[in-house]
Amino acid sequence: MPTRWIPSIKALVHGVCLLPLLKLIEMYRSGALGLMADPVNWITHFTGYWTLFLLLTTLAVTPARRLHPRLGNLVRFRRMLGLYAFFYATLHLSTYLFLFSGYDLPTVLSGVRAGHPGVVVDEWKAVWPTILDDLKKRRFIQVGIFAWVLLLALAATSPAFVLRWMGGKAWRRVHTLVYVAAASGCVHYWWLVKKGVRAPLPMTLALAALLLARVAWSARKRWRNSVANG
Ligand code: HEM
Repeated sequence: MPTRWIPSIKALVHGVCLLPLLKLIEMYRSGALGLMADPVNWITHFTGYWTLFLLLTTLAVTPARRLHPRLGNLVRFRRMLGLYAFFYATLHLSTYLFLFSGYDLPTVLSGVRAGHPGVVVDEWKAVWPTILDDLKKRRFIQVGIFAWVLLLALAATSPAFVLRWMGGKAWRRVHTLVYVAAASGCVHYWWLVKKGVRAPLPMTLALAALLLARVAWSARKRWRNSVANG
């Protein structure tokens, strides 16, 4: 891929990654969201799905660029894809905290507008025990939080100056945690669906294929090195 194409492709990737957010905003603005039977559930599922999809797309960059020397530049899009995955994960977590949990966002917003900012904390105090209870009892929430914390750590260590400070080897080792985050996302998905529902299977198979590609590549590299060294 010629280097001069990179800015245009980057703009295209930004556009595609922002489409789900624009769809959410448009559905809210047009009132389509309000007409749904359970809009909060829909937003939770929508943002969760896009988080996992973008995480797997991020993981697909490395095997894809190994397919052909001309695809080497694909690495230039990996960081932005990973950051978009983190962005949707944060939106997903916020949906849980400020909508799913029972936090009364409309009341809070009108309270703030009426000059009572304390309502933000009052409402938070009201839902906090439910969230804590969920965290203790529901293992799919625990593994979801674990995945989000990993993504937070990866996003925080993604800038180039952090890479320079950590050194390439340590940085790469830390960033293999993206596989753990994606696997936790899949486990989260399996644990939240009803018994017998196979919806998480395509994402899980895609992750397994990406992991296999990584293992096969490392094995091939080791074998080539051992042949070269006699
Ligand atoms: C990287 C982190 C995460 C990923 C990849 C992820 C992914 C998903 C996916 C794929 C779904 C189902 C979407 C569908 O059915 O189409 C989902 C649902 C859900 N997630 Fe997450 N999630 C993550 C983190 C979290 C966190 C941190 C929380 C809350 C603390 C959370 C709470 C939920 C809830 C409440 C649902 C809906 C459950 C239901 O149907 O009752 N997730 N998530």
